[in-house]
Amino acid sequence: MNRIRVHLEHKTSNSYDVHIGRDILDRMGLILAKIAMVNRYIIVTDTVVDALHGERVAAVLQKLGLKVDRMSIPPGEASKDIRTVLETAERLTALGADRSSALIALGGGVVGDLAGFLASIYMRGIPCIQVPTTLMAQVDSSIGGKTGVDTVAGKNLLGTFYQPLGVFIDTAFLDTLPERGYRDGMAEIVKYGAIEQPELLDRVAEGLGKAENRDPAILEEIITASCRIKKGIVEIDEKEKGLRRILNFGHTVGHAVEAASDYALSHGESVSVGMAAGAALSVRLGYLPAEDRERLVAVLKGVGLPTMIPGGISRERILSHLKTDKKKTGSVIHFVLLKKLGIPFLNGGVPEKSVTETVEALTA
Ligand SMILES: NC(=O)c1ccc[n+]([C@@H]2O[C@H](COP(=O)([O-])OP(=O)(O)OC[C@H]3O[C@@H](n4cnc5c(N)ncnc54)[C@H](O)[C@@H]3O)[C@@H](O)[C@H]2O)c1
Repeated sequence: MNRIRVHLEHKTSNSYDVHIGRDILDRMGLILAKIAMVNRYIIVTDTVVDALHGERVAAVLQKLGLKVDRMSIPPGEASKDIRTVLETAERLTALGADRSSALIALGGGVVGDLAGFLASIYMRGIPCIQVPTTLMAQVDSSIGGKTGVDTVAGKNLLGTFYQPLGVFIDTAFLDTLPERGYRDGMAEIVKYGAIEQPELLDRVAEGLGKAENRDPAILEEIITASCRIKKGIVEIDEKEKGLRRILNFGHTVGHAVEAASDYALSHGESVSVGMAAGAALSVRLGYLPAEDRERLVAVLKGVGLPTMIPGGISRERILSHLKTDKKKTGSVIHFVLLKKLGIPFLNGGVPEKSVTETVEALTA
């Protein structure tokens, strides 16, 4: 089992450990059993994850004499709203959860964001342990303390920065993850390669391309490398005032493509197209050597992710989504561009014409 410490000794955030390995639930139980300030755990999950893994996770803790309850929400982004927060809070109250209780967020990013948010406000804050079960949540959303829910006006508009008490990443959960969900996580891993550690791109290309060639040891190594990168960025810029924004590489165009596809493209697929666009824009503006873009695109294709905007998605809608984004962020869009693979920078002065040309060139 690998252990990574996220160092955050601030007034409001404490340091915590991220544990990574295969079949680590027993170890998780032993670690949780030692936390004296918590005398009761409530597992918050979604119905899909609950059916697959809920009972097993609860049993591990019960075996150690811990008091455990489980509650689940419907799966999917639609549950990430304030109504579900209120319903779940009421269920907590009905159970008698108090300040000596802790939540265990067992699931993907939806459960992690929602349970993290609920923990941050329930009785002015109770501990939350993240147990991510999607690859995306294992390499990204479970670390760093961003919590929140969506409103009709947009994603993550209500939320807090609230660091977990600990993160337990058991790669065995990925055995039940559908291929598309797996590829979504791969997009975030490739992103870490692009913005921080280009060698990771080679490891991904060698070890994780086709499902049948997937090597569990390489998977664990790559998840650990990704978590180390995320932790390094979060330690420097916990509240996303600067550096943490480089994690948005591929996300500006990605979000626009995702919305313009009416969410037919998944988040990871959209980010993949967005990274191809970010690299193409960086080449177009003279920052990035063309061979770096080609290397990135080859790795994305190798893991089965799209790098062109699919035919049915209107360019006009993508560009109009980007303009709406611009209004929201105050007249300029800060694109994350690359000078080289591993050297990202923020650029708030990208000419609109270059963005349009890049989107046009990437439309199949
Ligand atoms: N907090 C952050 O820093 C951060 C970062 C990135 C994304 N996010 C958020 O994460 C959310 C997306 O998370 P996601 O991609 O994990 O999606 P998700 O949580 O919706 O999970 C996707 C689907 O996979 C199922 N699932 C989860 N684990 C499974 C498993 N082991 N086996 C089989 N099925 C499983 C779920 O039931 C769900 O149907 C978005 O709301 C996004 O805003 C947050």
